[in-house]
Amino acid sequence: MQQAMLACALALINEGEVGWIEDPVFLQARNVLAFVGAKIIPRPIDREGLVIGKCSRQNSPRLILVTPSHQFPLGVTMSLRRRKALIEFAESRDGYILEDDYDSEFRFDGPPLPCLQGLDNAGRVIYTGTMSKILYPSLRLGFLVAPPQLVDTLVKVRAVMDQHSPAIDQATLARFITEGFFLSHVKRIRELYAQRRVFFIEQFQKWLGDYFDLEVTPAGLHFIAWLRRGEDFPLFMRAREQTGIWPRPLSFFCIKAQLDPAFVFGFAAWSQAQIEQSLAKLASAVKQLKQRGAGNGSSFQIHPLSPATSSYWPSTAVRSN
Ligand SMILES: Cc1ncc(COP(=O)(O)O)c(C=O)c1O
Repeated sequence: MQQAMLACALALINEGEVGWIEDPVFLQARNVLAFVGAKIIPRPIDREGLVIGKCSRQNSPRLILVTPSHQFPLGVTMSLRRRKALIEFAESRDGYILEDDYDSEFRFDGPPLPCLQGLDNAGRVIYTGTMSKILYPSLRLGFLVAPPQLVDTLVKVRAVMDQHSPAIDQATLARFITEGFFLSHVKRIRELYAQRRVFFIEQFQKWLGDYFDLEVTPAGLHFIAWLRRGEDFPLFMRAREQTGIWPRPLSFFCIKAQLDPAFVFGFAAWSQAQIEQSLAKLASAVKQLKQRGAGNGSSFQIHPLSPATSSYWPSTAVRSN
């Protein structure tokens, strides 16, 4: 996916031209736009997905990076109305949309969703997928389906990046798919993750339900848990340090968005025993910290890991529209 994002950004954006990202965002999307010197405009997310809003002609985006099936990290599915509006908007501004369909195989309720690209009759959507979630991230294989007019340019960009992904890995994956193993693998892990998901929800309510409202969305491999009381935030930050269990604060993924305090919990990579032990451990650490009054007067700030302030972040400024 990161390769796909970089190839598209190199192909479509000159330094100083505008790129839109979601806010909160998959941080690599922002890294890629920063790397090509784009003027980055973070767009808020509402219940229908990325908010298009008002946009002056000179700030028209060349590239819009979105996760319509399952917004990362909030989990919102982009509505049909917003999908159509986004394609129309991109067409009217001569821009392109990169659809990052990173975890579309993991929809646990309802029928599978058609992709944004399926609605595109204007040749404005580049569809991308990854093997990172369905197989494993270190494989570094994914795919990109581009409108015909972009294919030559993207092939040239890829040729200067590294020519191609490892041929043996690609051939092995191709056989894995064509001989039917991929499909049975998808079925098997979808079932496994569905079980872990239900177990996680139960255990979460048991151990941490007093502290959080868990937002259960129909898709994906993580949940957002909203803190009921903002003052508990420092306690959980401290409990993370003590236990080595690291739910990410939602603020880590925010650029300008000011959202209520919440944490992002992944559930797919852990066995049921690990899920139960980890949540119990976190709950017990928080309880002890609370008894010791450790949250009071804590020096933790509400956005301690905000990318805007973290030192490893590229220095390209985020500009507002
Ligand atoms: C929104 C999003 N897109 C893509 C990916 C996968 O990226 P890659 O294929 O580069 O491993 C992830 C992984 O966490 C993700 O969260």
